[in-house]
Amino acid sequence: MKIAVFNGSPRKENTSAMIRAFREGAEAAGHEVEEYHVGKMKIAGCLGCMYCKTKGEGVCIQKDDLEKIMPAYKDADMIVFASPVYYFTMTAQMEAAIQRVFCIGKPAKAKKAALLLSSGSPGVYDGAVAQFKAYTSYTGIEAVGVITAHGEENKSEAKLSEIREFARSL
Ligand SMILES: Cc1cc2nc3c(=O)[nH]c(=O)nc-3n(C[C@H](O)[C@H](O)[C@H](O)COP(=O)(O)O)c2cc1C
Repeated sequence: MKIAVFNGSPRKENTSAMIRAFREGAEAAGHEVEEYHVGKMKIAGCLGCMYCKTKGEGVCIQKDDLEKIMPAYKDADMIVFASPVYYFTMTAQMEAAIQRVFCIGKPAKAKKAALLLSSGSPGVYDGAVAQFKAYTSYTGIEAVGVITAHGEENKSEAKLSEIREFARSL
C-alpha cells in the first residue's frame, strides 16, 4: 500500500517519534510510507467560497501549501493523521488541511485510515477521536486504528513497539 502520513505538529518531537515507529513497522511489511509535515506548512483555513465546487472543478482558489499534499491525499491507499493534541483536538494546521480537502470531497483511492495522537495528559482524546470517526464514516474509509501516547509514553519503547506492531499488521 501507499501510505500518506500527515504530521500536524509544528515541531519534530513526540509526534515525529510515533511516525518513525509507524514507518519502521509499515516498511517492514512492504508498504511505502510518505510523510507530509503539515504542521510546518502554510495552509490557510477554508474560505467557504465554493469556488472548488463550481468554476474550480475540485481545485481550491487559494494557492498555498495545500498543493503539496493534495496529490498524496488523492493517491494514497491509506491515510494517517498524526498530531499532538492542542486544546482537545488536533493542531490548527492539521484542522486547516482537513477542512481544505473539502475541495475534492471524498478521496477516491483510500481504503484505510489511522489516527496517532500525542499529548501531555491522558484522557484528552475524545474530540480528535470523534472527528476521526465522523471523517471515516463520511468518506467511507475504514478506521483501522487509533493510538495515543501521553507524557512519558511518547518516548517509551513499549509504546513505540505497539505502533511498530500495529503498522506491521496492516
Ligand atoms: C498550544 C498547545 C496546546 C496543548 N494542548 C494540550 C491539551 O489540550 N491536552 C494535552 O494533554 N496536551 C496539550 N498540549 C501538549 C502537547 O499535546 C504534547 O506536548 C505533545 O506531545 C506535543 O507533540 P509534538 O512534540 O509532536 O509537538 C498542548 C501543547 C501546546 C503547545
